[in-house]
Amino acid sequence: MSQSYDRGLVEDFGRWRDFSAGMWAWVFHKFTGWVLIGYLFTHIAVLSTAIPAAGGDPSIYTGTLQGLEELLVVRFLEVGLLAVAVFHILNGIRLLFVDLGVGLTAQDKSFYASLVLTGAIVIASVPTFLAGAI
Ligand code: HEM
Repeated sequence: MSQSYDRGLVEDFGRWRDFSAGMWAWVFHKFTGWVLIGYLFTHIAVLSTAIPAAGGDPSIYTGTLQGLEELLVVRFLEVGLLAVAVFHILNGIRLLFVDLGVGLTAQDKSFYASLVLTGAIVIASVPTFLAGAI
């Protein structure tokens, strides 16, 4: 089941073409995990500066957030964040089952199911996220 590669003296960055489903699952899980950490710190930084900057006036804070929501790029970033979070959660639950020894022989199928379910949830969310922006 496991594969090894002769990488030679210099790393062959073209190896991604040979990646199996399990390797893509590993790459996507790492990527989404660290994007979520990045978002978490950005989110805390924005809110912890926007709240004091509003100087106790809730309308300034609300106006700042409404201004952000008016930007189409922010709406698309929100859809992207949902995609990243949903995939990480679904694939993470799948990994926890694998850790428990459940579904070991259907790991590729459960990874594809995570991808398809993520895609379906994200597509279904688009009208809500883009409402009023276009
Ligand atoms: C229900 C929600 C979540 C579930 C079920 C989940 C599940 C998991 C699991 C099982 C792993 C270990 C994967 C492995 O075996 O290598 C993992 C890794 C990780 N998760 Fe989550 N996670 C969740 C939410 C989050 C959130 C909210 C964040 C960030 C704010 C996050 C960040 C990470 C990071 C950074 C890693 C390590 C990635 C790596 O470098 O390998 N996760 N997650």
